[in-house]
Amino acid sequence: MTLLLKNVKTQLAPYSLLSNISHTDNEVYLDKYTEILNYLREYIGEPYYAHNGFILYNSDNAEIMNKLESSEFKIDLTVTSPPYNIGKEYENNMPIEKYVSWCQKWIKSIYNITKENGSFWLNVGYLNVKNKGKAIPIAYLLWDKIDFFLMQEIVWKYGAGVTAKKFFAPRNEKFLFYIKNENDYIFNLDSVRDPDVKYPNQMKNGKLRCNPLGKNPTDVWDFPKVTSGKNRSSKERTSHPAQYPLSVIDRIIKVSSNKFDIIFDPFSGSGTTGIAANGNYRIYIGSEISKDYCDLSIERYEEYLKERSSKLVYH
Ligand SMILES: C[S@@+](CC[C@H](N)C(=O)[O-])C[C@H]1O[C@@H](n2cnc3c(N)ncnc32)[C@H](O)[C@@H]1O
Repeated sequence: MTLLLKNVKTQLAPYSLLSNISHTDNEVYLDKYTEILNYLREYIGEPYYAHNGFILYNSDNAEIMNKLESSEFKIDLTVTSPPYNIGKEYENNMPIEKYVSWCQKWIKSIYNITKENGSFWLNVGYLNVKNKGKAIPIAYLLWDKIDFFLMQEIVWKYGAGVTAKKFFAPRNEKFLFYIKNENDYIFNLDSVRDPDVKYPNQMKNGKLRCNPLGKNPTDVWDFPKVTSGKNRSSKERTSHPAQYPLSVIDRIIKVSSNKFDIIFDPFSGSGTTGIAANGNYRIYIGSEISKDYCDLSIERYEEYLKERSSKLVYH
């Protein structure tokens, strides 16, 4: 039986995260999830929450990664956004050198627990460095201090943001796309092609010029930010102060992993990576130090599941 989406408005997640898989695939997915969960129970301990491919630890990520480093367990893809050291409610600001060496430490652990053909996507913004710069891209501080191979930097640009009078209003953040092995990594371009092609029927030597699935989405991505505020709040907005958008993470998960792969987010926050992973039938493992954010992300995930089942129709 095929499941199709009706053309209905989504509330919490983009359409691409509301599709379903065949009954057989679902069984494979749940079997793999159960196997992973049992393994994690043995090596890490009982998660705070686990349901159908979404596993969350309410813990400092160092504890999780240290235990995984001493096991055979390996993940396929990490997508994460760490604290930027800019005074958010969940941050204890550190001197810049300490911040950079802390980042190096947890990134090293991610490297150690990543499969040989695995990837690491790091979302970072800017920070103020006293007497040096108002908005230093965190990417500049980190890019060459880690073992992963930097494939490229993606510019994520968005419309909404703060205004400015003495400098240009900031409208972008970066995603650093790292891999472990430049000769062997997953890159499912066809799953993320951009169908918005200007001349889709243009021919060359009797063949279509452009791939019928669409064009390469390039290294500049235009996705709205998760906004807040009366009458302008995004539908996916939670009360977490630094939520990244599901559609960006959806693209990353599709391009850098395959169905049933293991996706990790050591700074899980409101669970965005988890929902995008689950919606693409990957197994999610997250760690989040704050119990409140864990509870918030579980509530969000369960709402998302409700939405997914209500929007799906049997065809
Ligand atoms: C930038 S936010 C991540 C937001 C997330 N990408 C989302 O879409 O909601 C960073 C998160 O890391 C958590 N955090 C900070 N230090 C941590 C640690 N050592 N281990 C686990 N989580 C941590 C914070 O509580 C915060 O929720």
